[in-house]
Amino acid sequence: MITDDLIVKMTEFNAGDPKRIQHFIKVYEFAHVIGAKEGLDENTLRILDIASVMHDIGIRPSEEKYGRCDGKLQEREGPAYAREMLAMFSDVTETEIDRVCFLIAHHHTYENVEGLDYRILLEADFLVNAMEDELKKDAIITFRDKVFRTKTGLHLINTMFGLCSI
Ligand SMILES: [Fe+2]
Repeated sequence: MITDDLIVKMTEFNAGDPKRIQHFIKVYEFAHVIGAKEGLDENTLRILDIASVMHDIGIRPSEEKYGRCDGKLQEREGPAYAREMLAMFSDVTETEIDRVCFLIAHHHTYENVEGLDYRILLEADFLVNAMEDELKKDAIITFRDKVFRTKTGLHLINTMFGLCSI
């Protein structure tokens, strides 16, 4: 399966940084569960799987080039590295690569979210970031109300953080 190979490649890409490696593993798993429970078709779920493993690929190059890695920089830097890595996989189509790169280029953009793959990537990333960044409950609720739309994503965030459902 491509995601197995990609997880190894992304681990190599982030060598020496177990926190970042375990971050993308968690985002991938939550994204996959939400995608599957929301009934994504096979092709869209595959794109979501690939994008969730690779979504933060722009962080390390941003840090190396600019000494910082804010969201917008990551979005700008990431796609070229993703494209290069995905070129090693002969069964990934250009259409798939384009969509994965779009998702990487927008994973910190919360307006005009078009497509369930995009929506779910934002939800899964936040489920992990909220815990890793030790966000307070009111910040989690604010983000939930702004971004979370899928039934499964809402169920997971409400359950995990003990929130009242909306
Ligand atoms: Fe992330």
